[in-house]
Amino acid sequence: MSKRILLLPGDGIGPEILAEARNVLEVLIGEHGLDATLQEAPVGGAAVDACGDPLPADTLELARAADALLLGAVGGPAWDQHPRHQRPETGLLRLRAGLGLFANLRPALLHAPLASASTLRPEVVEGLDLLIVRELTGGIYFGEPRGIRESDGQRQGFNTLVYSESEIERIAHVAFRAARERRKAVCSVDKANVLESSELWREVVSRVGGEYPDVALRHMYVDNAAMQLVRDPSQFDVLLTGNMFGDILSDIAATLTGSIGMLPSASLDANRKGLYEPIHGSAPDIAGKDVANPLATILSVALMLRYSFAEPDMATYVEQAVSFALSTGLRTADIAGEEESVGTAAMGEAVVAAMLAFQH
Ligand code: IPM
Ligand code: MG
Repeated sequence: MSKRILLLPGDGIGPEILAEARNVLEVLIGEHGLDATLQEAPVGGAAVDACGDPLPADTLELARAADALLLGAVGGPAWDQHPRHQRPETGLLRLRAGLGLFANLRPALLHAPLASASTLRPEVVEGLDLLIVRELTGGIYFGEPRGIRESDGQRQGFNTLVYSESEIERIAHVAFRAARERRKAVCSVDKANVLESSELWREVVSRVGGEYPDVALRHMYVDNAAMQLVRDPSQFDVLLTGNMFGDILSDIAATLTGSIGMLPSASLDANRKGLYEPIHGSAPDIAGKDVANPLATILSVALMLRYSFAEPDMATYVEQAVSFALSTGLRTADIAGEEESVGTAAMGEAVVAAMLAFQH
């Protein structure tokens, strides 16, 4: 059966970077027998502008029918003052929740030629290769009750941090299974010294860990984890954490590698259907200027091949084409340092050229 891939360009630099990833997919379809069809739909601010809804019903329907989704980015100052239900981010959150994409995998890998692009000393980030497994459809992002209410004559904003055992169990299994394919170490991050939800998190993760005696498990408080990430990041293999802590720690991890423009991510449901997206945002300041780095989006295609389509060889092939493009010295502005840089399209073309040159 032909796979259905839904492309969601979104806002800001989203459409530009997605166009480059689309070219990569078309090479895979045209030259490598990837049996897939591509469709496109609006999401985020673009969808708000088009039809007043950041996740139109038609887009959600196509998303449900798809085998995998590739998203550019959502958000921008044009929509920042909109009511919450008409904000681009709300579209993304509804997509995650609506499709049950509870497992967010965010690998942070240092591409050796880019070591000098990190703000940390090269010897600190050397060999950095970690995976953040972030719970994505629960926790304080979705907990009820939430809102802004009147209390004692003033307004009060409130949210609820809630995790049920089954939510913790299923994300813990994802982390332990991922660790088995890597260096077999899970560090679970929580705030169990203060929060009951973390107390339960720690207990359930430990219990699930008992089923994986070959994987080393330790627990760490989130404040310490943030510090350890910038102090000695190579101590980590898999970092397992909840929705909000994962949001924060994954930005730290991403920037360690020198460029947030390089890092892909996968958000998976229980059947490995996934939404794939670069970790970076919509970067409205550089949108439409042909300067954005398309590599995180292209590497997201590789994750799609690996996780949703079980095509590890094809995934490696795309990753090698990216490595080759970098090895020729090509750099987009975000990773160029003092060197000369190329644009979004030129970088995408270099990856496609490398794929065509090294047909596998
Ligand atoms: C992310 C982003 C999103 C999040 C926003 C855009 C809703 O920061 O994917 O990390 O907070 O999850
Ligand atoms: Mg974030």
